[in-house]
Amino acid sequence: MRTVYIETYGCQMNVADTEMITGSLAAHGYGRVDRPDDADVILLNTCAIRDHAEARVLGRLGELARHKKARPRVRIGVTGCMAQHLRDTLRDRAPHVDLLVGPDGYRRLPALLDADDGELHTALRLDPTETYADLPMQRAGGVRAWLTVMRGCDRFCTFCIVPYVRGRERSLPLGAIVDELHAVAAAGSKEVVLLGQTVNAWRDGDTTFADLLRAADAVDGIERIRFTSPHPAEMTDAAIDAMAGCPKVMPQLHLPVQSGSDPVLQRMARDYGVAAYEDLVARLRERVPGIALSTDVIVGFPGESDADFAATEALMERVRYDSAFLFKYSTREGTRAAKWVDDVPETEKGRRLERLIALQERISAEVNAASVGSEVDVLVEGPARRPDGWVIGKSPQFKTVVLPGPAAPGTLVRVRIEAATSHTLRGVPSSAAAA
Ligand code: 5AD
Ligand code: SF4
Repeated sequence: MRTVYIETYGCQMNVADTEMITGSLAAHGYGRVDRPDDADVILLNTCAIRDHAEARVLGRLGELARHKKARPRVRIGVTGCMAQHLRDTLRDRAPHVDLLVGPDGYRRLPALLDADDGELHTALRLDPTETYADLPMQRAGGVRAWLTVMRGCDRFCTFCIVPYVRGRERSLPLGAIVDELHAVAAAGSKEVVLLGQTVNAWRDGDTTFADLLRAADAVDGIERIRFTSPHPAEMTDAAIDAMAGCPKVMPQLHLPVQSGSDPVLQRMARDYGVAAYEDLVARLRERVPGIALSTDVIVGFPGESDADFAATEALMERVRYDSAFLFKYSTREGTRAAKWVDDVPETEKGRRLERLIALQERISAEVNAASVGSEVDVLVEGPARRPDGWVIGKSPQFKTVVLPGPAAPGTLVRVRIEAATSHTLRGVPSSAAAA
């Protein structure tokens, strides 16, 4: 049997793509191994969202060159967004790479691997109809399953490489998704996360994302449903109603805002302003009580002034997110913003980032501290790293909770929260608390 080793970088969509790649390679006789030393094929499934992500992969490729020296027949491939983005230059930077396969080329991977002639083989054509709905997945299994429901993005935010490397938006058919939901439930998963670059833009004819949530809610065996990432401008009242009305759809949403300044949002082409975004937050909080909100913010976008940045800080103070992913702007060649001067100095980007991190740490700690004394249902995932005998799981709000075991993965335990930090809650099963 031939063997494949694969490392995944970047977002959850890549994690799901890796399960698909290994599934389709398994159908062609490849077994997955955990060490590159044991592999006939070494793949890096990559991300291009920021320069840092690509730099890491280039470094890793340098390290992997030794496998090629030791065993010249080893094939090294780069798959995913960075293969697509750096298709013209990657071979110069990493001459030992045999394969470049973009996000719409995975179907061709087994055939490319059969051509064992030392040439560079590529599958880099974007295909606006490719959804891989029919390919077998090799799922990691476990309590949570990730399900890609749409691919690509049509929004072209000016900072973002995704529409260029993942291509046009396309949705998987409702039937294929429902079949897959039944399959993951039968395999024992209790929670599903529906994935897409703008997941709430999913549609199948007249069937909308709100209908998809209801269809998922009706699948027996699935106990919790989440989805990521929605685009604020696509978040319809119908979708909010579906969140409110479906008991399995958890009160938690990652709602990337990117900036708290209207002029910056406009230059980013985000298609909403601060007022509309905060109105959406208010409607979500009214219709889905206790909803946890997280976000993405970019600091140092071209032209971001002190006042623009202060507006972002003020927005974060007003919204009081449960958590936030905070990034320094990174120029991506090929995007519209790449034509503008990257005029916020690196040191100033760093200063702004540090300020937002401190701000959010404080808010997260305050929000979590306010939950001490409350009771939540924790879906147990497995043993905690420490203390010994404790287990770890997630609350409905997607907060990490540690509690004393034993409790089997996949079980729901009612927990009383006794302590909190900015990142973790600690609790005890509420029957134990009462005793
Ligand atoms: N620079 C910095 N951050 C970026 N993101 C996307 N493109 C860039 C970029 N060029 C961030 C956005 C997005 C998240 C996934 O990554 O905040 O929501
Ligand atoms: Fe990128 Fe904007 Fe599409 Fe998100 S919505 S993937 S930020 S272009």
